[in-house]
Amino acid sequence: MKFFVDTADVGDIKDLLDTGFLDGVTTNPSLVAKSGRDFLEVITEICGLTDMPVSAEVSAVDTEGMILEGERLAGIAENVVVKLPLTLDGLRACRHFRQKGIRTNVTLCFSANQALLAAKAGATYVSPFIGRLDDINLEGSHLLGDIRTIYNNYDFETRILAASIRSANHVTQAALAGADVATVPPGVIRKLAEHPLTQNGLAQFLSDWQDTGQSIV
Ligand code: E4P
Repeated sequence: MKFFVDTADVGDIKDLLDTGFLDGVTTNPSLVAKSGRDFLEVITEICGLTDMPVSAEVSAVDTEGMILEGERLAGIAENVVVKLPLTLDGLRACRHFRQKGIRTNVTLCFSANQALLAAKAGATYVSPFIGRLDDINLEGSHLLGDIRTIYNNYDFETRILAASIRSANHVTQAALAGADVATVPPGVIRKLAEHPLTQNGLAQFLSDWQDTGQSIV
């Protein structure tokens, strides 16, 4: 499973690029607002750091507006993936970008039928929001599994990008359900390497090693 980082914070992206675990970046209007930065400037800066896919979301809600904005975003760099909402207008725009060879991420997906339409519209990625389903007492991970089955049934090429990941447990659920990608907040990516037994075990090994009085180099 690939890891995208879900942030518009350039400092976090730089830091995580160094780990070698990252395969891409996703942003959304809320994350851009949180960064306090100019949208086009921040996307340009992120694309200057990496040639991995960088999702940048349109703000228009009509097909024509989405096409106009998406073409502007795609003009920033070759690795920009145009992020479109999963509405009929968004799906029409998705088809347009498919025909032009521009990659898309169809976002705000909350049902298997929506994911089916995204695949038929030629989306590069579909983003099911598992955390927001969990928030309303539904099983986000079940949606991922259903989409995986449907896409396998018909050999759809659209990649399942598990989004709205809030915990390390969500990452495991996405991997078990066969998501192609998980977009994960920076703090959760860092937590994936942590386990209290690893910390305790390491402390014990260090203490026992010091008792031996030996050194390796
Ligand atoms: C990513 O593409 C999504 O916009 C993001 O994962 C949403 O996460 P949230 O539900 O925690 O806001």
